[in-house]
Amino acid sequence: MPSLINRLNKNLSVLKPNSILEFNAEISQIDDIVHLTIGEPDFNTPNHVKQAAIRSIENNESHYTNPRGTIELRTAASQFLKAKYGLNYNPEDQLIITAGVTEAIYATLSTILNPGDKIILPTPIFPLYIPIMEFLGASPIYIDTSKTDFKLSKEKLKEALDENGESVKAVVLNFPNNPTGVTYTQTELEDLATVISKNDIFCISDEIYSELSYQHDHVSMGTILPEQTLVFNGVSKSHAMTGWRIGVIGGPATIINEVNKVHQFLITSATTNAQAAATEAFKNGLEDGPQMREAYAKRVAILEEGLGQLGFDYVKPDGAFYLFAKIPEQFTQDSFEFCRQLAHGAKVAVIPGSCFGPGGEGYVRISFAASEENIKTALNRIKSFLN
Ligand SMILES: Cc1ncc(COP(=O)(O)O)c(C=O)c1O
Repeated sequence: MPSLINRLNKNLSVLKPNSILEFNAEISQIDDIVHLTIGEPDFNTPNHVKQAAIRSIENNESHYTNPRGTIELRTAASQFLKAKYGLNYNPEDQLIITAGVTEAIYATLSTILNPGDKIILPTPIFPLYIPIMEFLGASPIYIDTSKTDFKLSKEKLKEALDENGESVKAVVLNFPNNPTGVTYTQTELEDLATVISKNDIFCISDEIYSELSYQHDHVSMGTILPEQTLVFNGVSKSHAMTGWRIGVIGGPATIINEVNKVHQFLITSATTNAQAAATEAFKNGLEDGPQMREAYAKRVAILEEGLGQLGFDYVKPDGAFYLFAKIPEQFTQDSFEFCRQLAHGAKVAVIPGSCFGPGGEGYVRISFAASEENIKTALNRIKSFLN
């Protein structure tokens, strides 16, 4: 009997189980636990968007589309990105519709990376970038941002670039950030752009939470450094459409043409009816994101007030739907153990900060994509737990 398990891709060993999902599964066994772990909107997809998908199915739109996405969706996405953030992407050759940002990450990293390459990753960050680049034989250069207000500074970026030279292929920015909720101003992005523009590197700018910016209008890196930036966006968070799996990559036509080759081999084209739904979301759903943002803003205010009263230190969330809270000093265990204890002792589920890379230890990620009632219940339970 041949042993095929030893004949697999050696790089599979870097694909460790997703620690966020594993932890969530572990503590979900606890009866009556309140989940503040969720990384997706708790709203339903807006009705007008659902109706567009139903019409698409009834019209027998059941065929492959152009690999880059239907021209209707690319046009709607281009107009949305222009109206919202002033981005200028020609729908013909500067946009690709992907199966969520997740596929955008894989297609883009496969397009730009060779084994031995490096990517600068300011952490804490959405962890998916790490296994994908390692699977492709590349490695991360972590810049721990916990000492610089959880923002990448131009000095640290320059230092990492100078130290690592030609091997660096890209820097990843993610703002508003998962897990810290921190975002960047125009001036901060311009500062980073002065460093990036002096190097032959890509700037991968994951702006999937762009519609959820609370303090100021979202500024896209694609408007500041268009020749070097690949912008990732989509409808997952803005229109509560995580399950529809529609993302967008925008960038220079020459690079987009190359990413499109990998993307075609991966999925041929995104699901046709989901594309119809996303077209409606981008075209007629300009207010969907802001409406949800209002609801999130109310929830985060409750959460901030409650945590403040309990004496928690936390990073003020300027965007997304996450609050990154420091574990109180009396708890000396690591973030996994603290979260386990909180789950069993208070029946409140949050995510250990160490899941998000260097700088995350000592913190927990609290998602406020949860009802006001659940947030209040969680705060009451944490209060009793601490007492
Ligand atoms: C920063 C960030 N990028 C990308 C994704 C994945 O997005 P999608 O659902 O469109 O694949 C997530 C999901 O949580 C995220 O937080």
